[in-house]
Amino acid sequence: MRKITIAIDGFSSTGKSTIAKQLANKFQYVYVDSGAMYRAVTLYAMQKGFISKNFFNSDKLISDLIKINLTFKFNPVLGFAEMYLNNTNIEKEIRTLEVSKFVSKVAEISEVRRKLVEQQQQMGINKGVVMDGRDIGTVVFQNAELKLFINASAEKRAKRRFDELIQRGDKVTFDEILKNVQYRDHVDSTREDSPLIIAEDAIEIDNSDMTLEEQFKKIYKITLDKINELS
Ligand code: CDP
Repeated sequence: MRKITIAIDGFSSTGKSTIAKQLANKFQYVYVDSGAMYRAVTLYAMQKGFISKNFFNSDKLISDLIKINLTFKFNPVLGFAEMYLNNTNIEKEIRTLEVSKFVSKVAEISEVRRKLVEQQQQMGINKGVVMDGRDIGTVVFQNAELKLFINASAEKRAKRRFDELIQRGDKVTFDEILKNVQYRDHVDSTREDSPLIIAEDAIEIDNSDMTLEEQFKKIYKITLDKINELS
């Protein structure tokens, strides 16, 4: 079966990574969570004291980019690759609301984007990759054979993320999650470098009222049809 590149973009907490993982498992593709990389750089900036509430020394982060080594290592128990920052597993730390609050500011920086996009393109060089993010279909893999753009209402998305964090044991309120979702939507869509926009050739899917099964069935069929069409 021909291997293709699948780009999944969309607003925050739309369940892109769930779909991407399911597709990667089904087709034996590599899954890359590009958002995890932006989150990892953000965690680095937080650990170094370059970013905090009302303060961001982006110059310091830019000059430290050379020291930031990001890798994914497959965890066979979890069935997906976890994010490592300078050889330390940071998969859990990068999912906090704290990181979510700062990540969009870090992701606005062109130097950060250039470094991560280059690494993402290398990871997809042999095709057979599913990558999710904000600029995958528009910047990282402009020639991807399949581009999906996922959306859902802000309330539904906030509820999903809230449930996820509560289940992890994080102390968060629905209200602050909703605010963060809306804030990131705005910053990600209005930034100068690689804003979140729908690629011309992307298929749009609103999953506000879809179950996970319905969503997977629909996207699996779209993917299979695309692979068959190209084979
Ligand atoms: O999972 P969630 O929808 O909360 O977001 P994510 O995919 O983990 O991405 C976190 C943040 O990283 C986004 O809000 C963007 O600011 C940034 N990002 C980006 O700019 N470009 C990407 N390709 C992926 C993420």
